[in-house]
Amino acid sequence: MKIISKVNELREAVQAFRQAGKSVGLVPTMGALHEGHKSLVERARKENDAVVVSCVLNPTQFNNKEDLRTYPRTAERDAAMLESCGVDVAFMPTVEEIYPEPDTRVFDLGPVQQVMEGAMRPGHFNGVCQIVSKLFSWVMPDRAYFGQKDAQQLAIIRRMVRDLDVPVRIVGAPLVREPDGLARSSRNTYLSAEEKERALALSQALRDVAVGRSVAAERRRVVARLEKAGLKIDYVEFVDGATLAPVRKTAKGVCVLLAVYDGKTRLIDNRVL
Ligand code: PAJ
Repeated sequence: MKIISKVNELREAVQAFRQAGKSVGLVPTMGALHEGHKSLVERARKENDAVVVSCVLNPTQFNNKEDLRTYPRTAERDAAMLESCGVDVAFMPTVEEIYPEPDTRVFDLGPVQQVMEGAMRPGHFNGVCQIVSKLFSWVMPDRAYFGQKDAQQLAIIRRMVRDLDVPVRIVGAPLVREPDGLARSSRNTYLSAEEKERALALSQALRDVAVGRSVAAERRRVVARLEKAGLKIDYVEFVDGATLAPVRKTAKGVCVLLAVYDGKTRLIDNRVL
């Protein structure tokens, strides 16, 4: 595995794959890798001749500077994990390498950007689009892998790729959970034992959502379950899995998304019915 920190070296490495007639899969991450990331990397490994994984703690997508400051940084462990997964290139640049000048681009992807994470974390998805569009220009992957864990991000990336006409296949991969049901996340390491226990209410509340009911009633049940556990709710939304437009009845294909504060830690989770 090559660890690359310069954009021009990344371009050269990818060009060599292309000249050898190899297909290229890209897995964008912010490092602090866990089993959720690993599932994307393994999928990419199966479906492509060459695999590039980027680990960039992208400052432009953090609307909360404290969140950026405390985000786990585990570069050495990340590199070892990627090596063991048979990755060809780990792209681990500095922030200055990515943004030699401030990125002033503004992405307007319409309604899908204005709700839920977009509403609660102003500028977040703009930063995601800035970094992912740059990665797409550098790597020009055949396939790029994103987790259903960040369901709205996946919808945003699909929208961006359509808007910019990027010739890449966006692959959405299933959400990976810990054995007790907690959605795997780099931020789970912040949770105390007590907070972790409380966090189980997220997956339990999602699991208990029934099909063929009114959203208002099911939403009340989810909210009550989360509040009873002592979690502070940011949002609980029932939307169409593809368009993210709100729905009024729970049906197959409806996506239930939620964000809560567990102590100081913000957690998100979702389930497609
Ligand atoms: P990050 O949070 O590191 O996640 C990288 C990728 O791993 C995302 O596509 C995310 O959805 C996926 N992922 C995280 N936890 C997962 C889980 N439990 N199951 C399945 N997939 C999971 O998302 C980002 O980074 C950034 O916004 C990024 C797209 C890299 C742009 O900076």
